[in-house]
Amino acid sequence: MKVGIPKEIYQNEYRVAATPDTAKQLIKLGFDVLIESGAGNGANFADDAYAGVNCQVVADAPTLWSEADIVLKVRPPQMHSELGKHEVELLSENKSLISFIYSAQNPELLNELSKRRANVVAMEAIPRISRAQKLDALSSMANLAGYRAVIEAANNFGRFFNGQITAAGKVPPAKVLVIGAGVAGLAAIGTAKGLGAIVRAFDTRLVVKEQIESLGAEFLELQFAEDGTGEGGYAKVMSDEFIKAEMELFAAQAKEVDIIITTALIPGRKAPILITQEMVESMKDGSVIVDLAAEQGGNCACTRAGEAYRYKGVTIVGFTDLPSRMAQQASQLYGTNLCHLLQEMGGGNNFHINLDDDVIRGALVLHAGEVPVLPAKIEKVVEKKVEVVSDAGSQKQNHTQTIVTASAPVTATSTKSSNDLLWVFVAAFALIGIGISAPASFLSHFTVFVLACFVGWQVIWNVKPALHTPLMSVTNAISGIIIIGGMLQLSGNTSSATTILGAIAIFIGMINISGGFLVTQRMLKMFQR
Ligand code: NAI
Repeated sequence: MKVGIPKEIYQNEYRVAATPDTAKQLIKLGFDVLIESGAGNGANFADDAYAGVNCQVVADAPTLWSEADIVLKVRPPQMHSELGKHEVELLSENKSLISFIYSAQNPELLNELSKRRANVVAMEAIPRISRAQKLDALSSMANLAGYRAVIEAANNFGRFFNGQITAAGKVPPAKVLVIGAGVAGLAAIGTAKGLGAIVRAFDTRLVVKEQIESLGAEFLELQFAEDGTGEGGYAKVMSDEFIKAEMELFAAQAKEVDIIITTALIPGRKAPILITQEMVESMKDGSVIVDLAAEQGGNCACTRAGEAYRYKGVTIVGFTDLPSRMAQQASQLYGTNLCHLLQEMGGGNNFHINLDDDVIRGALVLHAGEVPVLPAKIEKVVEKKVEVVSDAGSQKQNHTQTIVTASAPVTATSTKSSNDLLWVFVAAFALIGIGISAPASFLSHFTVFVLACFVGWQVIWNVKPALHTPLMSVTNAISGIIIIGGMLQLSGNTSSATTILGAIAIFIGMINISGGFLVTQRMLKMFQR
């Protein structure tokens, strides 16, 4: 199975869908890798580096597109001005394309791909669920954008970020406000903090408070009983009163801070205007605003998408290509996301599209040219209308393309509910049987056991993910108690049944404790420099 990586032709796009390092991983997965000559130049990867890891360097785009079974790209296919052809025309029929597609904004592109009976996986539609984190290219790129936003701010800011006391005088630290603490916002907070600035942050989702504070920044809170946490961990649209109160907070902050970095967005919507022209005018001369949401209309009323300019003493940066400005790193991260995706899809020896896989299904926008039908077990979270001309007919049809951000089995089938009822009856009869025949001492222990199971289940099920690490410590402590109980049974008892049960309790308790330590160790390693 051949994977082809063409040179990106979008203006000022320096990223490439595979680096020599990720190409090597693709080859390990069983793929043959073809790369267009010069594809890695913008990201500082020479043809020789690809050839050195056994990639086949192909001289021109038409040969690459026609030979590849799977084409990996960064930007959606577009008109190739040198060839006078659209890139979709270069894709052979029944082949696969994996790239950012933005299908809702590009219905015409989808129509053309559909005519070629292509399988199309849209990287922006990879569900943001734990299992799919390693494939989440949006997060990889947003992380880079957050970092780069601070670097752009520093580049346009005429002062140090950190406070200093020098022979020439005392320098106060820069004050940075980050609006929106999603992936990009948190990366910006970490970077600005690392440079020594005083960082404040605001988000409508109260769950991010701990994350902001753990990075050493101050969480600005509104005295307002409304939380912005929506479905799938994304933000929800806030009431007009909340937005008004939020903007009053920003108006006060604008007079005080030196740098504002805005990342506020609700997926699928225009970015809310949170920094007005008056707020910009109230900022000190030399201040900087970096608006990451520029492409979606901007969070600042004065932003010009794709530009950096000075507005009455304030530099406003509205670049929409921040990841491409760090092309080497961005290509490495994006390429790694693609490797994980191709591994999930079976690798080179067993490449297939599994519609039962929530992650693949969530990102699949075309399956053999058709919009895939939603399997019953996937729960709808975000819906996008996509117009597609199916290959079979020339008439336009409206399909609803569902982007999955969570999944749950369907519970409302009649077979399942009758099965459930049967289990309830079996359990009820078993309990009655135990009640009639068991000795009183057993019944008192059994009642405690059932209550412990019930309370334990309720407690653990309702714990927020942010508290899972402390929870693990608690379960370790409980396992410790179980092990001591097991050891007491082993030492004081001669009955073989009690000895076996004691040994089993020690064994299971040990698994829990050592597993807990291993996971904690892994998590701690993530924070070690
Ligand atoms: P995200 O969805 O993870 O984070 C957005 C955050 O904004 C969420 O935490 C949400 O709660 C918050 N938010 C929404 N409405 C708000 C409001 N009214 N007030 C305060 N906070 C609010 O998104 P991610 O991945 O962090 O991306 C952030 C932005 O960066 C997006 O606009 C994205 O398109 C953009 N981006 C820009 C790039 C560039 O080159 N300029 C590159 C990559 C991403």
